Parts: sequence; structure tokens; C-alpha cells
Amino acid sequence: MGIQITPSVLNADLSRLADEVARIPSSDWIHVDVMDNHFVPNLTLGIPVFESLAKATTTPLDAHLMIADPDRWAPAYAEAGAGSVTFHAEAAAAPVRLARELRAKGARASMALKPATGIDQYADMLGELDMLLIMTVEPGFGGQKFLDLCLPKIRRARELISAAGLEVWLQVDGGVSLETIERCADAGADVFVAGSAVFSAEDPDAMVRELKAKAEA
Ligand code: DX5
Ligand code: ZN
Repeated sequence: MGIQITPSVLNADLSRLADEVARIPSSDWIHVDVMDNHFVPNLTLGIPVFESLAKATTTPLDAHLMIADPDRWAPAYAEAGAGSVTFHAEAAAAPVRLARELRAKGARASMALKPATGIDQYADMLGELDMLLIMTVEPGFGGQKFLDLCLPKIRRARELISAAGLEVWLQVDGGVSLETIERCADAGADVFVAGSAVFSAEDPDAMVRELKAKAEA
């Protein structure tokens, strides 16, 4: 599939969500951060807004669910039009069952790990996933500083995926910018979320293309 850029709309003007998405047509996906004030100390949006956005754009939506009890809530995002649904390993009671349910509903199944969560304990279930998300900040807010301590885990995840002969996409999220994206790509990431880097740029779509070129270099 190659390198993909998936801008996060968390730092966009949320009163004009569809217009903001229309400004970044070079995006491969649009990353939508769902937060519930429980799993993370922030609250964003839920199914009604997500569903409206899915109808307003032809770019596929990547739902990043930073919520408690994803076993209960995640499948509804697949039904609401998400092309990919990411739940957190730390929050899921039955991640294998949930991944299978998401795939059965036609979405790509993805699992996220916070910075202090190890990858090795999940090695045996990588075949159940279409994407693994390695968080490179503590989830909850945009605009945080990239955590270099996550790089060894990105490398390790890429090793495990390759050794198993799988085609799981490896996504990074948090502090990704022109300054940090090469480090992530070198470590083996191929899907890059970028929030503030894209939406604080004078020309957000040009930034999407620049990030892609940097990661491909
Ligand atoms: C943080 C979110 C990210 C965030 C990224 O918890 O999951 O998707 O919007 O924003 P930046 O790129 O500014 O770190
Ligand atoms: Zn995110």
C-alpha cells in the first residue's frame, strides 16, 4: 500500500468540519479522534457527528476510539461508515472478538497501544488486525511533543509483522511533523497521523504532500 497520510481533524475548526476536510484532498484517510472523558481527559464527538462527516466526504474515515468499553461502542462506528476502526488495547475486554466483529461489519480492524503498553503480549493476535497504531504521545490532546521512547516499539512491531508474513499497516499518532516523520518511517511505520502539523500550516494540503514526500524519502 505504501506510505499513507491521515490528518487528524482534532485541531481543525470543528464548527466547520466538512469544510476543513475539503481543504485537504491529498489525504489518504481522515483521522477522527473520538474521546469520552473516561479513557482520556477530553471529550470530542460521537456517532451523530461521525455519521454526518462520513456522508459529507468521499475520503475514507479512520475512527480512533479513545473510549472506555470499546467492545460495546466500536461496532457502531463501522456501521456509521468508518473504513477503519481503532480501539485501544488497554480498554478492550476481548480484543480478538472485537477485531473479528469489526471485520465482519466491513471495516478494517485496528488496535492502538499507549506509550507504556508493550507489543510482545499482543504478538499472537496480529493476524486479527488490519492495522496496529503505536501512539507516540499519551492520548487525549493534539499538539503534544513526540515521544522518542516509542521508536523501539515501532521497530519491534515491524519485526513481528514481517516475521509473521502479515500485511498489517503500522500507524503512528502524536507529534508527527516534518521534523519527526522520518524517524517513524525509518522505524517501520507506514501510516502517519498528523494533526497540528497539518492544520497549523498555511497550506494544509501542501503539508500533507510534504509529509508524504518526507516519509517516502
Ligand atoms: C491525540 C490524538 C491525535 C492528535 C494528533 O490523542 O489521538 O490523533 O489529534 O495531533 P498532533 O499531530 O498535533 O499530535
Ligand atoms: Zn488519534
